[in-house]
Amino acid sequence: MFDDLDRPPLDAAFLRGRLVKPGALWTQIDVLTETESTNAVVADAARAGAAEGLVVAAEYQSSGRGRLGRTWTTPARSALLMSALLRPVRVPAIRWPWLGLLVPLAVASAVRRVGEIPAQVKWPNDVLVDDRKLAGILLERVDTADGPAAVLGIGLNVTLRQDERPHPAATSLLLEVALTTDRATMMAAVLRELATRYQAWVDADGDPAVILPDYRELSATLGRSVRVELPDGTFLEGTATDLDTDGRLIVDTADGPRPLAAGDVTHLRTNS
Ligand code: BTN
Repeated sequence: MFDDLDRPPLDAAFLRGRLVKPGALWTQIDVLTETESTNAVVADAARAGAAEGLVVAAEYQSSGRGRLGRTWTTPARSALLMSALLRPVRVPAIRWPWLGLLVPLAVASAVRRVGEIPAQVKWPNDVLVDDRKLAGILLERVDTADGPAAVLGIGLNVTLRQDERPHPAATSLLLEVALTTDRATMMAAVLRELATRYQAWVDADGDPAVILPDYRELSATLGRSVRVELPDGTFLEGTATDLDTDGRLIVDTADGPRPLAAGDVTHLRTNS
């Protein structure tokens, strides 16, 4: 069994000392022992008027939310579970979907840098290592009295073992033999990377050019044969060729190119 030494608690004071500074994006970092969903906590705080830069992490979630109405469950302290509140008011609403690509890019970049493993992004926002899922991201838009806000939820498997995986295609920093399995180190690296990329994107009024080259470089999807389950339950197959200026995935099908705004992608084979 894993004990406290293998899965130490997150130290909120340590994280605040590193990340909450005058002029920094992150203004408040809270660590909860247990909650239903950190996304729900941050969404409630946003509706109650919380400022941009709030981060809430949890050691355990009893009703963690995944994409497409799925659940996200991990053993206590085995994963980095956190949500952040952003209010990119100066970015036109039409460009907000790019946040859903910016976040996995930041996570993959931090994991590569600090974990020294070849993390990639799977469209729209999973983080993979050799096609195994390391992290998932849930981006939710919340309407508040101060205008729309974005809640970014990140779930990154850290010390999840083989027998604890929710499905065989899941992995963790431990299973990939990353350089660190220290959640605080990884949390600080992800939040730093996120702040740098987010601030550059906001400063550019949401210009996708700030995200696209790096996203393409770290993409595990572009150039691959894919099967996509569309929101209406139908399937489509083809080759993922690129992203358009709205962040949609272009899939070349037998009937021509199809831009997809949403969907659940399966990578069919590795191209040589
Ligand atoms: C996915 O389906 O891949 C997205 C999973 C997102 C899970 C994270 S864990 C922290 C945050 N709180 C939630 O309830 N969900 C996100």
